[in-house]
Amino acid sequence: MQKQHEKTMDEFKPIEFMRRLSFVGNHVMVFKHSLILKPENVSLFDYVRIDDYSRIEGGAGVILGNNVHFASFSGILGGGKCVIGDHCGVAQGARIITGTERITGYMSAASPMELRDSMRGQITIGRLTFIGSNSVIMPNVTIHDGGVVGAGAVVTKDVAPWTIVAGVPAIKIGEREKL
Ligand SMILES: CC(C)(COP(=O)(O)OP(=O)(O)OC[C@H]1O[C@@H](n2cnc3c(N)ncnc32)[C@H](O)[C@@H]1OP(=O)(O)O)[C@@H](O)C(=O)NCCC(=O)NCCS
Repeated sequence: MQKQHEKTMDEFKPIEFMRRLSFVGNHVMVFKHSLILKPENVSLFDYVRIDDYSRIEGGAGVILGNNVHFASFSGILGGGKCVIGDHCGVAQGARIITGTERITGYMSAASPMELRDSMRGQITIGRLTFIGSNSVIMPNVTIHDGGVVGAGAVVTKDVAPWTIVAGVPAIKIGEREKL
């Protein structure tokens, strides 16, 4: 019994790491092989679950509401802000891009800063939303409450409440019953 308990705790980030986060609610699960950069800018509310091999960059601030799930190989990147409401599922491989290099500058992060033209924005994702596998959410997009993003979509524009979008670029393919 004792051994089983130890094995379970070993699957998660150690308490010393969790203390570096800006805020941690109750029953939060951050798996050991996930990567959280700038943890001091990351707030995780109750029942958040971050699976192994996902990558969350704290950037200018990340807030994940209650019951938000990041599946393996999904992530938040780009150095901007990201706010996600309660009960959002981010499926395997989905990428939430909060900032990027612009085409007006050198587009390598390894180039000197004065030659680059990078931007940092904010992505806001409402409650009861779903971000499908391998989709990409582009900077400054808002996905309103109940929005669903299909697998493989590239979302360049805001998603209206309780609307399903899919494709590249993503367009509306349906609506959803309000929960
Ligand atoms: C977008 C999604 C939610 C739509 O579900 P749905 O409303 O039940 O849609 P349907 O299966 O009835 O498909 C409706 C139409 O959209 C198309 N479509 C569905 N998903 C699509 C996608 N991801 N990209 C492009 N087109 C898609 C279908 O081909 C169909 O087109 P048609 O009317 O010309 O035949 C779903 O297909 C999806 O992509 N879910 C994400 C799955 C996922 O990532 N899971 C992760 C593991 S949990």
